Amino acid sequence: CSDKYIIHRGLLLPKETHTEESLRFAAEFEFKNDDVLIVTYPKSGTTWMQEIIPLLLNGGDLTPVTTIPNWDRVPWFEETRLALVLDKLKSPRVMVSHLPYNLMPSSLSSSKAKVIYVTRNPKDAMVSSFHFHKMANFLDDPGNFQEFMDKFLTGQVMFGKWTDHVKSWKHADLGDRILYTTYEAMVENLPGSLGEFSTFLCNNLSEKTLLGIADHCCFKNMSKNPMSNYSLVPKEFMDPSKSQFLRKGISGDWKNHFSPEQDLKFSACISEEMKGENLCFPWC
Ligand code: PPS
Repeated sequence: CSDKYIIHRGLLLPKETHTEESLRFAAEFEFKNDDVLIVTYPKSGTTWMQEIIPLLLNGGDLTPVTTIPNWDRVPWFEETRLALVLDKLKSPRVMVSHLPYNLMPSSLSSSKAKVIYVTRNPKDAMVSSFHFHKMANFLDDPGNFQEFMDKFLTGQVMFGKWTDHVKSWKHADLGDRILYTTYEAMVENLPGSLGEFSTFLCNNLSEKTLLGIADHCCFKNMSKNPMSNYSLVPKEFMDPSKSQFLRKGISGDWKNHFSPEQDLKFSACISEEMKGENLCFPWC
């Protein structure tokens, strides 16, 4: 792998934000009963959830999402920054992670912490990642679209294969402490998804509050929030002239990128690896 990554337990992780120390910190982490962990494969709705969950937990008060950058508001569990900001997190603490379930500390299952797992059509996650690799200078250049697809399907991308990630979390033994949702469901009906999250987090909010949060979290409004659109990141790390972080925010953009042959090959590869899993997704 290039010098931009470390390999941790077989997973490629960006060196810019991950170290052996940060991964040890995560491995030894003690979850508290009221912690909330959002888990995603990269480019599947992480930033969106970093906006939504704090608002749901505080009844729609916009102060945190308009004053604290998303990476400090809801820090990444496996990144170096967690140790620096952990003490500043108010209870209930909310964190995000791209790690597979097998790399979670045992305190996740022994505590009562809650997990929301967001999946996205892997074709759209791949397209989003392709554009992200062009703008993020701390990642390898993606090469051409076919080359990037080959890397994605063989897991030679950060956090490994999409199929391994999804399978690991589908088999997590967390009972009713894990809620599975999809990016597509959120695009289709954001207030409905917010209601579902609110029920899961046991803070049933009024319809009016949910609609207010949905309005703040729509793609158009979030794209304008400097605390969430990554415009605070220096250009040498993320270059917005190459692609925007909040790029399109739609389902099905893969159709504008895949040839019919690429579609067939990609679908066959994912179906083969998901065989026997008995999973039903909105895009299937
Ligand atoms: S990362 O790097 O893993 O944290 O990226 P992540 O935030 O998971 O994924 C980025 C994609 O999510 C889209 N996004 C949204 N879509 C709809 N509505 C809202 N509010 C929203 N916020 C982020 C973002 O645009 C990226 O998808 P693409 O397809 O590239 O537009």
